[in-house]
Amino acid sequence: MNNPHRLIRAFLKQPVDKTPVWLMRQAGRYLPEYRQIRQQVPDFLTLCKTPELACQVSLQPLERFDLDGAIIFSDILTIPDAMGLGLHFVENEGPKFKSPIRSSRDITNLPIPDPEIELSYVCDTIRLVKKSLNNTLPVIGFSGSPWTLAAYMIEGQSSDNFILAKKMLYDNPASLHELLLKLSNAITIYLNAQIQAGVDAVMIFDTWGGLLTTSDYCDFSLSYIKQIISNINHTVPVIVFTKHGGLWLEHIATSGCDVIGLDWTISIKSAKSRVEKINTRIALQGNLDPAILLTNPDAIEKSVKTILDEFGKSPGHVFNLGHGVLQQTPVENVKTLVDCVHQMSVPYHVR
Ligand code: CP3
Repeated sequence: MNNPHRLIRAFLKQPVDKTPVWLMRQAGRYLPEYRQIRQQVPDFLTLCKTPELACQVSLQPLERFDLDGAIIFSDILTIPDAMGLGLHFVENEGPKFKSPIRSSRDITNLPIPDPEIELSYVCDTIRLVKKSLNNTLPVIGFSGSPWTLAAYMIEGQSSDNFILAKKMLYDNPASLHELLLKLSNAITIYLNAQIQAGVDAVMIFDTWGGLLTTSDYCDFSLSYIKQIISNINHTVPVIVFTKHGGLWLEHIATSGCDVIGLDWTISIKSAKSRVEKINTRIALQGNLDPAILLTNPDAIEKSVKTILDEFGKSPGHVFNLGHGVLQQTPVENVKTLVDCVHQMSVPYHVR
């Protein structure tokens, strides 16, 4: 597989001329042109469900910054929505479900959505973005992890600790396993549909894996991620991102993934040496603290240098933030970051 794209080459640990960079939430409310489009629709979900607008928004950050890839504009909660839970977004309060999971029967009755029917808007957005980019840049598709989706479906909304989901884990593990298995099957079909529609890589967001104990992380989150990776049409690189997963890199490195996404709490140097001991083929993605982007060019440059130095002169690094771009981020700081990564990383790649 000799891929022309810098981003995909780095995912596959192939040599590149400079370190590729893309940012989680690179399209979003920090961009005035996003806010402008967002005003034209009643809510965020309508934007996701209108492929022409979702395509336009996916491309917005690429017009401003020299990014190495696009991520499809959508949300991880599209699957629970397609399962009939009634997703809606309340301004400044985040996602809510009209019919959260409240009993074992709710789980048994959940349908597995057909991505080309109930989630056709996501596949249509992918096809539009691929067509507009005409292979000049790669496109990343994504899904939430089974545990992260289950946590929202049980809680019914965002939470700091997802106490209802954890209560089910301890009170009724068999029902939670039934839900996680169903979600794994739904996610496998969904990611396959995204790959079929043309995405060049897929990312699994395990935003809430870090809430679990080590053994629960392995049993209730990672084992289902593994199952998805072994069942998907693995023709494109797979990125696994567990927020606060730094403790469990050795476990994540056995998942079958090609790339591990890191949050900012771990040094990329120690992550690299730990992951290499388990599997030398895995690339790393990350891991600048998004709060750095609230500061100034000197601080940004210094932090970029630290991460490039820590990773050192070898292939297999994709620069990213440790979590999404914050809404308060000044647009010019994102430009500074992207340009810094490209300019400063050249000496790390001389052959
Ligand atoms: O640019 C990109 O990264 C692609 C688009 C994307 C969004 N959400 C857009 C979005 C992606 C990949 C996601 C994933 C997502 N969604 C995650 C996993 C990543 C993470 O952040 O940990 C999670 C947990 C969600 C669920 C979700 N969606 C929440 C909790 C919220 C509200 C939080 C907030 O910032 O208000 C959303 C809404 C959302 N998803 C927005 C965007 C741009 C803001 C919506 C708006 O315009 O009002």
